[in-house]
Order: sequence, then C-alpha cells, then structure tokens
Amino acid sequence: MIIVQLSDLHLRADGRYPRHDAGAALSLAVSVINRMRPRSDAVLFTGDLLDRSTRDYTPVRLMLRALSVPLLAVPGNHDDPAAFRRAFGNDLAYAPEHLSFVHACADGRVIGLDSNGPGGSAMLDSGRLAWLEDRLREDDRPTLIGMHHPPFTTGMPRYDDAPFPGADALMRLLAAYAERVRLVAGHTHRALTGFIGGVQVGIGPPLGHALALGLVPDAPHAHTPEAPAMHIHLIDQRQSITHSLALAPDQPVEAMTGMLDAAGRSRLIAP
Ligand SMILES: [Fe+2]
Repeated sequence: MIIVQLSDLHLRADGRYPRHDAGAALSLAVSVINRMRPRSDAVLFTGDLLDRSTRDYTPVRLMLRALSVPLLAVPGNHDDPAAFRRAFGNDLAYAPEHLSFVHACADGRVIGLDSNGPGGSAMLDSGRLAWLEDRLREDDRPTLIGMHHPPFTTGMPRYDDAPFPGADALMRLLAAYAERVRLVAGHTHRALTGFIGGVQVGIGPPLGHALALGLVPDAPHAHTPEAPAMHIHLIDQRQSITHSLALAPDQPVEAMTGMLDAAGRSRLIAP
C-alpha cells in the first residue's frame, strides 16, 4: 500500500502565519497527491489540522475534500475532539469512545490511534490500548499505525519531558507485532525515523511551520524557514520504505512536478 502522511497543518482562522502559508501548503499537497502515479491508497493526517485560533473545520474540510483518495485523520493536541468528529466522522468510522479508526487497503491496513487526553495532553488509557490490541489480533497484514503524540523519546527535551501515560505499554504491545507493524506520529514539527524495541517508528514533517531542532532543555521554540513536506510510505509484505517530499508553497504545481520529472521521479508524480 502507498500511504501519504500529512501532519501539523495548523491552519489559522486568518489562514496563515506571517511566514508560513499553511493553506497554500495544503492546497499544493492536495494537487501533488492527486497527480501521484501510482495513486496512493489514502492520506493519513496525523493531527493538528487547525491552530487554536479557530474551531471551524469547514475551510480545511473543504480543501481536503478535493483529495481523490480517502482521508484518514486523527486529532492532535491543537484540535477540538468534538468538532473534529463532527467534521470528519461522516466519512470515517471512528470508535465510539475515542477518535481511533481502522481502514483496510487492498494489501494492508491503516490504524489511526487517538492519543489526545484532557486538554490535548498525550494519553493512552487501557480502553484505547485494548481496542488497539483487538485490531492487531484480527488481521495479520502489514499495518501502519498513525497517531499524533510520539510514544517514545525523541532526544528533544521539550517533548520528552511531557508525561505520556500509556506510551510504554503501547510500545510493549507493538513489539509483539513488530514484524508487520509500523508507527508514525506528528507533533514535533520535525521529521525523524527510528527503531524502538524492534518497531520501526517515525515522525512526519509538518505542512505548517517547522520548529527548530532542540536537543537541549533550553532550546528555543522557534519557527524555521524549512519548506513544508509530506512523507510517502510504501509498505508491503517484504519491506517498508518512506520517501520525503518537500513542498515549495511559492511554486505552482506545474513547475514543481517539472522539477520532479527532471530529477527522474516521474514514475511517482505524473508529468
Ligand atoms: Fe502541531
């Protein structure tokens, strides 16, 4: 299966941060995804679709409706759970108690795991972990799990110092299914990859503003001028590969696909 991961759009009520036009980045991402060849099976959005300046999902929902493939979205700490369910619950069968889901593709599955606790804090209670274990037991195909908060330490104290009850239990559970499970998250506004307990893990890059790499406790919480980007996960029975694709908001999609073709990637992006 081919799953495009988008994350951390942070669309604001006024449409943009001063130096990061999230709406333009999403529009470009949708254009590129719709032109991908082979087509992706789905788009997995790992949270923070909105900034806290708004609870109105109508603009982002309309933009995402232009996608030619299914949208699979879990909320982030900046999303409002009730409004999120109202916005996306008609198209995606969320669990009754939390905004988790399972989506079957032809040759694998995507599981969205809601990691939002009260106030957007990271949390996985026993009910969510039991729900996930049931999903993992019922199907032995390759499975991509998407969530917002990373349930592992990243080396960045800003994130690692925040409590995440249930994270260790989740990683122990996934270790038992490591051969066919892969985990991706968002939240840090920086992409990374890793291995924990034999489980392949990763964080997708933001469509909104990127944040400075901070490996020390007093690192600045600063926006950086890095281009918005998306991950493209190619997963089958044999392997799991991820491509990272930067999106230049000031480039029209025609110019961008032209650059990609020149780089020899026309098999992925249609000319
Ligand atoms: Fe975020």
